[in-house]
Amino acid sequence: MRFSGKVALITGSAMGIGKEIVRRLANEGANVVLFDVSDKVFETAEEIKKLGVEALAFKGDVTNKQDIEKAVSETVEKFGKIDILVNNAGIYPFKPFLELSEEEWDKVMNVNVKGTFYFTKAVAPVMVKNKYGRIINITSIATIVGFPALTHYCASKAAIVGFTRALALELAPYNITVNAVAPGPIETPGTKTARDAIEQIVKAIPIGRMGLPSDVAATVAFLASDEASFITGAVIVVDGGYTAQ
Ligand SMILES: NC(=O)c1ccc[n+]([C@@H]2O[C@H](COP(=O)([O-])OP(=O)(O)OC[C@H]3O[C@@H](n4cnc5c(N)ncnc54)[C@H](O)[C@@H]3O)[C@@H](O)[C@H]2O)c1
Repeated sequence: MRFSGKVALITGSAMGIGKEIVRRLANEGANVVLFDVSDKVFETAEEIKKLGVEALAFKGDVTNKQDIEKAVSETVEKFGKIDILVNNAGIYPFKPFLELSEEEWDKVMNVNVKGTFYFTKAVAPVMVKNKYGRIINITSIATIVGFPALTHYCASKAAIVGFTRALALELAPYNITVNAVAPGPIETPGTKTARDAIEQIVKAIPIGRMGLPSDVAATVAFLASDEASFITGAVIVVDGGYTAQ
């Protein structure tokens, strides 16, 4: 029960990696706050409540400041603090660069980068006040190796790495750590629809299988725990050895 008494807010948590992070932190005692653009967020929160913790659910878009401010202020009203923020919401629509429009580029940048900026901007002052915080940003191995048809995505996730390192330095004096997790291919609803595009990548994973949301959730839980209090500005790769080749 590493997280009993802690409050964790996870974005993009209705399904996929985000849902598994919620489940993992809740299993270890955290009260959780789910934020997702999908209606499914309410159903997921009901499922999580069965673990015996409190689970607040907000339907909202990470590119919408009002949605975020509402979620953060209602969370602070209820729990008085936010200990852990996981910026997980992200999209990865495959599109060859020569066909990519400015609108499609902006959409990925807005959800993946600006969403992380907005949420962190809203939550960091709450953590500073409480002199405690764990911020974990979900990036990708797309920051280490390139993937065709994902120029916008690769650029967005690289931005998150830069953001993570610089913010770690600024928030360290307040007992707030800021780290990133860089997964390789993970089995989620999102990658299910892109299975053809990632088939070759999956074949080249040395561990011989696709990653599971629980592989990422375990790493996030470690970074969110007190055992990781000396780790900040780090990027932890969770990819079955793909980028070690
Ligand atoms: N699955 C992978 O192979 C993989 C690999 C590396 C990194 N990642 C990253 O992990 C994160 C989660 O990926 P996933 O595979 O679980 O995705 P997914 O598509 O399965 O689930 C993403 C969740 O985020 C929500 N979401 C999307 N846009 C949103 C928005 N604007 N506001 C709020 N919620 C929004 C969706 O509704 C969904 O519930 C993403 O940041 C992704 O880039 C995934």
